[in-house]
Amino acid sequence: MRLHHVIRAQQFGRNVLAEIFETASEMERIVRHGGSDLLARKVMATVFYEPSTRTRLSFESAMHRLGGEVIATENAREFSSAAKGETLEDTIRIIEGYADVIVLRHYESGAAERAASVTDVPIINAGDGPGQHPTQALLDMYTIQKEIGHLDGISIAMVGDLANGRTVRSLCYLLAKCEDITIHFVAPEIVQMKDDIKEYLTKHGIAFVEESDLKAVASKVDVIYQTRIQKERFGDRIEDYNRASGVYIVDRHLLSVMKPDAIVMHPLPRIGEIKPEVDGDHRAAYFRQAQNGLYIRMALLKMLLCNE
Ligand code: CP
Repeated sequence: MRLHHVIRAQQFGRNVLAEIFETASEMERIVRHGGSDLLARKVMATVFYEPSTRTRLSFESAMHRLGGEVIATENAREFSSAAKGETLEDTIRIIEGYADVIVLRHYESGAAERAASVTDVPIINAGDGPGQHPTQALLDMYTIQKEIGHLDGISIAMVGDLANGRTVRSLCYLLAKCEDITIHFVAPEIVQMKDDIKEYLTKHGIAFVEESDLKAVASKVDVIYQTRIQKERFGDRIEDYNRASGVYIVDRHLLSVMKPDAIVMHPLPRIGEIKPEVDGDHRAAYFRQAQNGLYIRMALLKMLLCNE
């Protein structure tokens, strides 16, 4: 199956998801056996206008482990010619001459779509402001499938900064492809999930409910998907940030009411909303989740760049 740009989670149907997950499993085997030269002589550009640890380094590791080359501009807002006023479109038109695939993280919603409109080189959206983070949603779904054993029929609590969270937005779009899903939105009112996502879920027959008692929700769900309150999205609304932060914490008390086979996920980084005392519990899946990012991104690169 040919993939081209990776822009938004809605673009993936269940058959493509299945192929990505199967390829990711194959990538796990490749990593265990020391890598491959499948993408030898291919070049990937990572162009990041916002900070990142996991997404950028896992993409770069993915390319290296498949034998490809990486060119990069980290902190592109400051260190690329964007600092001189170059438009995103012009930057992409230039990089398409240097790379076979462009991984783009930008601070504006819709930036990846703008980039894809001016190039035939595959663009991978690595997070566009408060918009979407589709490769994170893919690795989240892969993690749920591996950890819980299935996708259909799960109940999930999405917790924290749902208004600004591109990971939860993209995950909702992917969960809408599944059957018999229940989503509990647990967030301070000021950062509750936005109406566009709720309308999308309703349209696709996905049950969701807004709740305020995390402890009550924790006892009945298969997945707690915790997120960070994103200070960088509040601008000068410091009072709003302070009201939203520290409200919902995953700690050992919460673990004690969770089902024995439920899991705790988080796209990371965390800044206190999951206490370190949770890390040793077998249900703490967030570091395994981040590792799955490598396999999913290897799978995407293979599917984008291998023609045979
Ligand atoms: N989950 C995630 O996108 O992490 P980074 O911001 O470190 O890439």
